[in-house]
Amino acid sequence: MASTAKVHRLAVIRGDGIGPEVIDASLEVLAAAQSEFGFRAELTEISAGARHYLATGELWTPALQDQLRGQDAILFGAMGDPAVAPGILERGFILEMRRSFQQAVNLRPVKLYPGVTTPIAGLTPERCDLVIVRENTEGSYVGRGSTVHAGTPHAVAVQESVNTRMGVERVVEFAFRLAERRGGTLTLCHKKNILVEAGILWQSTVDDVSVRFPTVPVDYVHVDALCFYLPTTPERFNVVVTDNLFGDIITDLGAAVQGGLGVAASANLNLDGSGPSMFEAIHGSAPDIAGRGWANPIGAVLSTAMCLAHLGEGAAARAVEAAAVHILAQLPATAGPGMGLSTAQLGREIASLVQSNALVPAVPGYSVMDDLAALR
Ligand code: NAI
Ligand code: MG
Repeated sequence: MASTAKVHRLAVIRGDGIGPEVIDASLEVLAAAQSEFGFRAELTEISAGARHYLATGELWTPALQDQLRGQDAILFGAMGDPAVAPGILERGFILEMRRSFQQAVNLRPVKLYPGVTTPIAGLTPERCDLVIVRENTEGSYVGRGSTVHAGTPHAVAVQESVNTRMGVERVVEFAFRLAERRGGTLTLCHKKNILVEAGILWQSTVDDVSVRFPTVPVDYVHVDALCFYLPTTPERFNVVVTDNLFGDIITDLGAAVQGGLGVAASANLNLDGSGPSMFEAIHGSAPDIAGRGWANPIGAVLSTAMCLAHLGEGAAARAVEAAAVHILAQLPATAGPGMGLSTAQLGREIASLVQSNALVPAVPGYSVMDDLAALR
Protein backbone atom coordinates (compact mmCIF):
# COMPACT_ATOMS: atom_id res chain seq x y z
CA MET A 1 0.00 0.00 0.00
CA ALA A 2 1.10 3.56 -0.64
CA SER A 3 0.87 4.34 3.07
CA THR A 4 3.69 1.88 3.87
CA ALA A 5 5.99 3.03 1.04
CA LYS A 6 9.30 4.44 2.21
CA VAL A 7 9.39 8.23 1.71
CA HIS A 8 12.52 10.06 0.60
CA ARG A 9 12.57 13.84 0.84
CA LEU A 10 14.48 15.19 -2.16
CA ALA A 11 15.32 18.80 -2.87
CA VAL A 12 15.51 19.60 -6.57
CA ILE A 13 17.72 22.44 -7.78
CA ARG A 14 17.33 22.80 -11.54
CA GLY A 15 19.60 25.81 -11.99
CA ASP A 16 20.48 27.24 -15.38
CA GLY A 17 20.93 26.35 -19.04
CA ILE A 18 20.55 22.64 -19.62
CA GLY A 19 20.24 22.04 -15.85
CA PRO A 20 16.41 22.17 -15.89
CA GLU A 21 16.31 20.03 -19.06
CA VAL A 22 18.38 17.16 -17.68
CA ILE A 23 16.59 17.37 -14.30
CA ASP A 24 13.17 17.12 -15.98
CA ALA A 25 14.31 13.96 -17.76
CA SER A 26 15.70 12.59 -14.49
CA LEU A 27 12.45 13.25 -12.64
CA GLU A 28 10.55 11.38 -15.31
CA VAL A 29 12.80 8.38 -14.67
CA LEU A 30 12.48 8.84 -10.91
CA ALA A 31 8.69 8.77 -11.20
CA ALA A 32 8.87 5.48 -13.10
CA ALA A 33 11.21 4.02 -10.48
CA GLN A 34 8.81 4.99 -7.70
CA SER A 35 5.87 3.21 -9.20
CA GLU A 36 7.97 0.14 -10.02
CA PHE A 37 9.92 -0.16 -6.77
CA GLY A 38 7.38 1.01 -4.21
CA PHE A 39 8.99 4.04 -2.62
CA ARG A 40 7.89 7.65 -2.68
CA ALA A 41 9.99 10.71 -3.44
CA GLU A 42 8.68 13.88 -1.87
CA LEU A 43 10.14 16.66 -4.01
CA THR A 44 10.89 20.21 -2.88
CA GLU A 45 11.71 22.59 -5.72
CA ILE A 46 14.36 25.16 -4.86
CA SER A 47 14.57 28.36 -6.85
CA ALA A 48 18.25 29.14 -7.37
CA GLY A 49 20.65 29.98 -10.14
CA ALA A 50 21.30 32.88 -12.49
CA ARG A 51 17.75 34.18 -12.86
CA HIS A 52 17.07 33.95 -9.14
CA TYR A 53 20.37 35.69 -8.40
CA LEU A 54 19.78 38.50 -10.89
CA ALA A 55 16.29 39.08 -9.48
CA THR A 56 17.10 38.81 -5.76
CA GLY A 57 20.88 39.03 -5.32
CA GLU A 58 20.64 35.76 -3.37
CA LEU A 59 23.09 32.91 -3.61
CA TRP A 60 23.57 30.45 -0.77
CA THR A 61 21.59 31.84 2.18
CA PRO A 62 21.26 30.68 5.81
CA ALA A 63 17.52 30.16 5.25
CA LEU A 64 18.15 27.92 2.27
CA GLN A 65 20.77 26.00 4.19
CA ASP A 66 18.25 25.37 7.00
CA GLN A 67 15.61 24.29 4.52
CA LEU A 68 17.94 21.87 2.74
CA ARG A 69 19.45 20.41 5.88
CA GLY A 70 16.23 18.57 6.61
CA GLN A 71 16.20 16.87 3.20
CA ASP A 72 17.41 13.31 2.60
CA ALA A 73 19.32 14.29 -0.56
CA ILE A 74 19.64 16.97 -3.22
CA LEU A 75 19.32 16.55 -6.99
CA PHE A 76 21.23 19.30 -8.74
CA GLY A 77 21.12 20.33 -12.42
CA ALA A 78 23.84 22.87 -13.22
CA MET A 79 24.55 26.56 -12.64
CA GLY A 80 26.25 29.21 -14.70
CA ASP A 81 25.02 31.83 -17.14
CA PRO A 82 26.67 34.31 -19.49
CA ALA A 83 24.69 37.11 -17.78
CA VAL A 84 26.47 36.47 -14.46
CA ALA A 85 30.21 36.96 -14.11
CA PRO A 86 32.06 33.65 -14.15
CA GLY A 87 32.50 32.11 -10.73
CA ILE A 88 29.77 34.00 -8.84
CA LEU A 89 27.26 31.15 -8.94
CA GLU A 90 29.82 28.37 -8.99
CA ARG A 91 31.72 29.63 -5.95
CA GLY A 92 28.86 31.48 -4.27
CA PHE A 93 26.43 28.58 -4.43
CA ILE A 94 27.87 25.22 -5.48
CA LEU A 95 31.08 25.36 -3.46
CA GLU A 96 29.17 26.83 -0.49
CA MET A 97 26.70 23.97 -0.61
CA ARG A 98 29.46 21.36 -0.72
CA ARG A 99 31.22 23.04 2.19
CA SER A 100 28.15 23.81 4.32
CA PHE A 101 26.97 20.23 4.17
CA GLN A 102 30.49 18.79 4.43
CA GLN A 103 30.08 16.88 1.20
CA ALA A 104 33.58 15.61 1.71
CA VAL A 105 33.75 13.12 -1.16
CA ASN A 106 33.07 13.79 -4.80
CA LEU A 107 32.62 10.35 -6.30
CA ARG A 108 32.95 10.10 -10.06
CA PRO A 109 32.81 6.74 -11.83
CA VAL A 110 34.74 6.53 -15.09
CA LYS A 111 33.03 3.56 -16.64
CA LEU A 112 32.89 2.92 -20.35
CA TYR A 113 29.45 1.47 -20.92
CA PRO A 114 28.92 -1.10 -23.66
CA GLY A 115 28.16 0.31 -27.10
CA VAL A 116 29.40 3.82 -26.29
CA THR A 117 31.77 5.46 -28.73
CA THR A 118 34.96 6.56 -27.01
CA PRO A 119 37.63 8.67 -28.69
CA ILE A 120 40.20 6.12 -27.48
CA ALA A 121 40.69 3.64 -30.32
CA GLY A 122 40.29 0.03 -29.28
CA LEU A 123 39.23 0.73 -25.71
CA THR A 124 36.73 -1.80 -24.31
CA PRO A 125 34.37 -1.60 -21.29
CA GLU A 126 36.36 -4.32 -19.50
CA ARG A 127 39.43 -2.07 -19.55
CA CYS A 128 37.73 1.10 -18.32
CA ASP A 129 35.86 0.63 -15.04
CA LEU A 130 37.25 2.86 -12.31
CA VAL A 131 36.12 5.40 -9.75
CA ILE A 132 37.75 8.73 -8.99
CA VAL A 133 37.35 9.89 -5.39
CA ARG A 134 37.91 13.64 -5.32
CA GLU A 135 38.35 15.63 -2.12
CA ASN A 136 35.49 18.10 -2.25
CA THR A 137 35.85 20.79 0.41
CA GLU A 138 39.47 21.91 0.50
CA GLY A 139 42.54 22.34 -1.70
CA SER A 140 42.58 25.37 -4.00
CA TYR A 141 38.79 25.52 -3.84
CA VAL A 142 38.65 27.11 -0.38
CA GLY A 143 38.85 30.45 -2.19
CA ARG A 144 41.66 31.84 -0.07
CA GLY A 145 44.30 34.19 -1.38
CA SER A 146 45.13 37.81 -2.00
CA THR A 147 46.26 40.19 -4.68
CA VAL A 148 48.76 42.90 -3.92
CA HIS A 149 49.27 45.86 -6.26
CA ALA A 150 46.17 44.82 -8.20
CA GLY A 151 45.84 46.32 -11.64
CA THR A 152 49.43 47.48 -11.78
CA PRO A 153 52.44 45.94 -13.50
CA HIS A 154 53.55 44.87 -10.00
CA ALA A 155 50.43 42.81 -9.29
CA VAL A 156 51.08 39.77 -7.10
CA ALA A 157 48.42 37.07 -6.89
CA VAL A 158 48.58 34.49 -4.13
CA GLN A 159 46.12 31.59 -4.37
CA GLU A 160 46.22 29.19 -1.46
CA SER A 161 45.63 25.46 -1.36
CA VAL A 162 44.44 24.29 2.04
CA ASN A 163 44.87 20.63 3.01
CA THR A 164 43.89 19.48 6.49
CA ARG A 165 44.74 16.09 7.94
CA MET A 166 41.06 15.63 8.84
CA GLY A 167 39.82 16.54 5.35
CA VAL A 168 42.39 14.35 3.64
CA GLU A 169 41.96 11.42 6.01
CA ARG A 170 38.19 11.18 5.63
CA VAL A 171 38.38 11.06 1.85
CA VAL A 172 41.33 8.64 1.87
CA GLU A 173 39.52 6.35 4.30
CA PHE A 174 36.42 6.38 2.08
CA ALA A 175 38.58 5.52 -0.94
CA PHE A 176 40.14 2.60 0.92
CA ARG A 177 36.72 1.25 1.92
CA LEU A 178 35.65 1.50 -1.71
CA ALA A 179 38.80 -0.24 -2.98
CA GLU A 180 38.38 -2.97 -0.38
CA ARG A 181 34.81 -3.61 -1.53
CA ARG A 182 35.84 -3.71 -5.18
CA GLY A 183 38.89 -5.84 -4.50
CA GLY A 184 41.07 -3.33 -6.36
CA THR A 185 44.07 -1.08 -5.98
CA LEU A 186 43.92 2.34 -4.40
CA THR A 187 45.97 4.89 -6.37
CA LEU A 188 46.92 8.22 -4.87
CA CYS A 189 47.12 10.89 -7.58
CA HIS A 190 49.06 14.02 -6.67
CA LYS A 191 52.11 16.06 -7.67
CA LYS A 192 54.13 15.37 -4.56
CA ASN A 193 57.47 15.93 -6.29
CA ILE A 194 56.59 19.62 -6.73
CA LEU A 195 53.75 20.39 -4.27
CA VAL A 196 55.83 19.01 -1.46
CA GLU A 197 53.93 20.24 1.60
CA ALA A 198 50.53 19.02 0.50
CA GLY A 199 52.09 15.94 -1.08
CA ILE A 200 53.67 14.81 2.19
CA LEU A 201 50.36 15.22 4.01
CA TRP A 202 48.47 13.21 1.38
CA GLN A 203 51.06 10.44 1.08
CA SER A 204 51.55 10.05 4.84
CA THR A 205 47.79 9.90 5.33
CA VAL A 206 47.52 7.17 2.71
CA ASP A 207 50.40 5.31 4.37
CA ASP A 208 48.79 5.57 7.82
CA VAL A 209 45.27 4.59 6.71
CA SER A 210 46.59 1.71 4.58
CA VAL A 211 47.57 -0.10 7.80
CA ARG A 212 43.84 -0.52 8.51
CA PHE A 213 43.26 -1.96 5.01
CA PRO A 214 45.99 -4.60 4.64
CA THR A 215 44.30 -6.31 1.68
CA VAL A 216 44.20 -3.18 -0.51
CA PRO A 217 47.25 -2.70 -2.77
CA VAL A 218 48.41 0.93 -2.85
CA ASP A 219 49.91 2.81 -5.78
CA TYR A 220 50.97 6.39 -6.48
CA VAL A 221 50.83 8.30 -9.80
CA HIS A 222 51.70 11.95 -10.49
CA VAL A 223 48.74 13.84 -11.93
CA ASP A 224 50.46 14.60 -15.23
CA ALA A 225 51.34 10.93 -15.69
CA LEU A 226 47.76 10.02 -14.84
CA CYS A 227 46.62 12.22 -17.75
CA PHE A 228 48.69 9.94 -19.95
CA TYR A 229 47.64 6.64 -18.38
CA LEU A 230 43.92 7.35 -17.99
CA PRO A 231 43.20 7.40 -21.74
CA THR A 232 45.83 4.85 -22.75
CA THR A 233 45.70 2.22 -19.97
CA PRO A 234 42.68 2.91 -17.76
CA GLU A 235 42.77 -0.76 -16.65
CA ARG A 236 45.70 0.30 -14.48
CA PHE A 237 43.22 2.01 -12.11
CA ASN A 238 40.39 0.85 -9.90
CA VAL A 239 39.99 3.53 -7.22
CA VAL A 240 41.88 6.83 -7.56
CA VAL A 241 41.94 9.29 -4.67
CA THR A 242 43.03 12.87 -5.30
CA ASP A 243 42.72 16.49 -4.25
CA ASN A 244 39.99 18.89 -5.29
CA LEU A 245 41.71 20.61 -8.22
CA PHE A 246 43.38 17.53 -9.69
CA GLY A 247 40.08 15.68 -9.30
CA ASP A 248 38.15 18.38 -11.12
CA ILE A 249 40.52 18.23 -14.06
CA ILE A 250 41.09 14.49 -14.38
CA THR A 251 37.37 13.71 -14.14
CA ASP A 252 36.69 15.78 -17.25
CA LEU A 253 39.38 13.72 -18.95
CA GLY A 254 37.66 10.64 -17.57
CA ALA A 255 34.37 11.89 -18.98
CA ALA A 256 35.96 12.27 -22.42
CA VAL A 257 37.29 8.71 -22.24
CA GLN A 258 33.89 7.32 -21.25
CA GLY A 259 32.04 9.02 -24.08
CA GLY A 260 31.51 12.66 -23.21
CA LEU A 261 30.32 15.09 -20.55
CA GLY A 262 26.70 14.12 -21.13
CA VAL A 263 27.36 10.61 -19.85
CA ALA A 264 29.35 11.26 -16.66
CA ALA A 265 27.70 11.23 -13.23
CA SER A 266 28.75 12.24 -9.73
CA ALA A 267 27.84 12.07 -6.07
CA ASN A 268 28.83 14.68 -3.49
CA LEU A 269 28.74 12.65 -0.30
CA ASN A 270 28.33 13.82 3.25
CA LEU A 271 29.95 11.08 5.32
CA ASP A 272 28.92 12.00 8.87
CA GLY A 273 25.15 12.48 8.59
CA SER A 274 25.40 16.21 9.35
CA GLY A 275 23.77 17.23 6.08
CA PRO A 276 22.34 15.88 2.84
CA SER A 277 24.45 14.50 0.02
CA MET A 278 24.06 16.03 -3.45
CA PHE A 279 23.93 14.34 -6.85
CA GLU A 280 24.71 16.01 -10.18
CA ALA A 281 25.98 15.27 -13.65
CA ILE A 282 29.52 16.56 -13.96
CA HIS A 283 28.77 18.91 -16.85
CA GLY A 284 27.90 22.57 -16.45
CA SER A 285 24.93 24.58 -17.76
CA ALA A 286 26.08 24.35 -21.42
CA PRO A 287 24.56 27.69 -22.50
CA ASP A 288 25.71 26.95 -26.06
CA ILE A 289 23.08 24.22 -26.46
CA ALA A 290 20.44 25.24 -23.87
CA GLY A 291 16.83 25.15 -25.05
CA ARG A 292 17.46 22.94 -28.06
CA GLY A 293 16.82 19.50 -26.61
CA TRP A 294 20.37 18.49 -27.47
CA ALA A 295 21.56 17.83 -23.93
CA ASN A 296 22.22 14.23 -23.06
CA PRO A 297 20.42 13.63 -19.74
CA ILE A 298 22.14 10.31 -19.05
CA GLY A 299 24.78 11.80 -16.73
CA ALA A 300 21.97 13.34 -14.69
CA VAL A 301 19.90 10.15 -14.78
CA LEU A 302 22.88 8.09 -13.59
CA SER A 303 23.44 10.65 -10.83
CA THR A 304 19.81 10.18 -9.81
CA ALA A 305 20.46 6.42 -9.73
CA MET A 306 23.43 7.07 -7.42
CA CYS A 307 21.10 9.10 -5.23
CA LEU A 308 18.66 6.19 -5.06
CA ALA A 309 21.47 3.80 -4.16
CA HIS A 310 22.63 6.17 -1.43
CA LEU A 311 19.07 6.29 -0.05
CA GLY A 312 18.95 2.50 0.18
CA GLU A 313 16.93 1.89 -3.00
CA GLY A 314 19.59 -0.36 -4.50
CA ALA A 315 17.29 -2.34 -6.77
CA ALA A 316 15.78 0.83 -8.22
CA ALA A 317 19.25 2.31 -8.70
CA ARG A 318 20.48 -0.72 -10.61
CA ALA A 319 17.35 -0.76 -12.76
CA VAL A 320 17.72 2.92 -13.65
CA GLU A 321 21.40 2.40 -14.48
CA ALA A 322 20.61 -0.63 -16.63
CA ALA A 323 17.84 1.20 -18.49
CA ALA A 324 19.95 4.30 -19.11
CA VAL A 325 22.89 2.20 -20.30
CA HIS A 326 20.65 0.16 -22.58
CA ILE A 327 19.35 3.33 -24.27
CA LEU A 328 22.82 4.86 -24.38
CA ALA A 329 24.15 1.90 -26.33
CA GLN A 330 21.62 2.61 -29.09
CA LEU A 331 22.45 6.30 -29.54
CA PRO A 332 24.48 7.14 -32.64
CA ALA A 333 26.11 10.02 -30.73
CA THR A 334 26.38 10.84 -27.01
CA ALA A 335 25.47 14.54 -27.34
CA GLY A 336 23.81 17.05 -29.63
CA PRO A 337 21.36 16.60 -32.51
CA GLY A 338 23.20 13.47 -33.63
CA MET A 339 21.71 11.57 -30.65
CA GLY A 340 18.54 11.20 -32.71
CA LEU A 341 16.35 11.72 -29.63
CA SER A 342 15.75 14.92 -27.68
CA THR A 343 16.57 15.29 -23.98
CA ALA A 344 12.90 14.83 -23.07
CA GLN A 345 12.46 11.83 -25.39
CA LEU A 346 15.49 10.18 -23.82
CA GLY A 347 13.98 10.69 -20.37
CA ARG A 348 10.73 9.07 -21.50
CA GLU A 349 12.52 6.12 -23.15
CA ILE A 350 14.58 5.41 -20.04
CA ALA A 351 11.52 5.79 -17.81
CA SER A 352 9.52 3.31 -19.83
CA LEU A 353 12.38 0.80 -19.69
CA VAL A 354 12.59 1.17 -15.92
CA GLN A 355 8.99 0.06 -15.80
CA SER A 356 9.87 -3.11 -17.75
CA ASN A 357 13.01 -3.73 -15.73
CA ALA A 358 13.20 -7.47 -16.38
CA LEU A 359 13.78 -7.00 -20.12
CA VAL A 360 17.00 -5.02 -19.71
CA PRO A 361 20.35 -6.77 -19.28
CA ALA A 362 22.29 -5.95 -16.11
CA VAL A 363 25.28 -3.64 -16.50
CA PRO A 364 28.53 -5.64 -16.64
CA GLY A 365 31.52 -4.95 -14.38
CA TYR A 366 31.70 -3.10 -11.08
CA SER A 367 28.55 -1.44 -9.79
CA VAL A 368 29.01 1.86 -8.05
CA MET A 369 25.32 1.52 -7.17
CA ASP A 370 26.14 -1.46 -4.94
CA ASP A 371 29.10 0.41 -3.48
CA LEU A 372 27.01 3.45 -2.56
CA ALA A 373 24.38 1.38 -0.84
CA ALA A 374 27.05 -0.44 1.17
CA LEU A 375 29.19 2.58 2.09
CA ARG A 376 26.50 4.78 3.53
P1 NAI B 1 29.79 22.68 -19.78
O1 NAI B 1 29.96 21.37 -19.13
O2 NAI B 1 28.55 23.41 -19.47
O3 NAI B 1 29.88 22.50 -21.39
C1 NAI B 1 31.06 22.08 -22.05
C2 NAI B 1 30.70 21.56 -23.44
O4 NAI B 1 30.06 20.28 -23.33
C3 NAI B 1 29.73 22.46 -24.17
O5 NAI B 1 30.03 22.46 -25.53
C4 NAI B 1 28.40 21.80 -23.94
O6 NAI B 1 27.47 22.01 -24.98
C5 NAI B 1 28.76 20.32 -23.85
N1 NAI B 1 27.89 19.58 -22.93
C6 NAI B 1 27.91 19.68 -21.58
N2 NAI B 1 26.98 18.89 -21.05
C7 NAI B 1 26.34 18.29 -22.07
C8 NAI B 1 25.27 17.36 -22.14
N3 NAI B 1 24.65 16.89 -21.05
N4 NAI B 1 24.87 16.95 -23.35
C9 NAI B 1 25.47 17.41 -24.46
N5 NAI B 1 26.49 18.28 -24.45
C10 NAI B 1 26.92 18.73 -23.27
O7 NAI B 1 31.07 23.56 -19.38
P2 NAI B 1 31.38 25.10 -19.71
O8 NAI B 1 30.90 25.44 -21.06
O9 NAI B 1 32.80 25.26 -19.38
O10 NAI B 1 30.56 25.90 -18.63
C11 NAI B 1 29.28 26.47 -18.86
C12 NAI B 1 28.80 27.07 -17.53
O11 NAI B 1 28.57 26.03 -16.58
C13 NAI B 1 29.82 28.00 -16.89
O12 NAI B 1 29.11 29.06 -16.30
C14 NAI B 1 30.48 27.14 -15.85
O13 NAI B 1 31.03 27.87 -14.80
C15 NAI B 1 29.31 26.30 -15.39
N6 NAI B 1 29.65 25.03 -14.76
C16 NAI B 1 28.83 24.60 -13.77
C17 NAI B 1 29.02 23.37 -13.19
C18 NAI B 1 28.04 22.94 -12.18
O14 NAI B 1 26.94 23.45 -12.09
N7 NAI B 1 28.34 21.95 -11.36
C19 NAI B 1 30.13 22.50 -13.58
C20 NAI B 1 30.90 22.99 -14.70
C21 NAI B 1 30.67 24.23 -15.25
MG1 MG C 1 34.56 20.46 -13.31
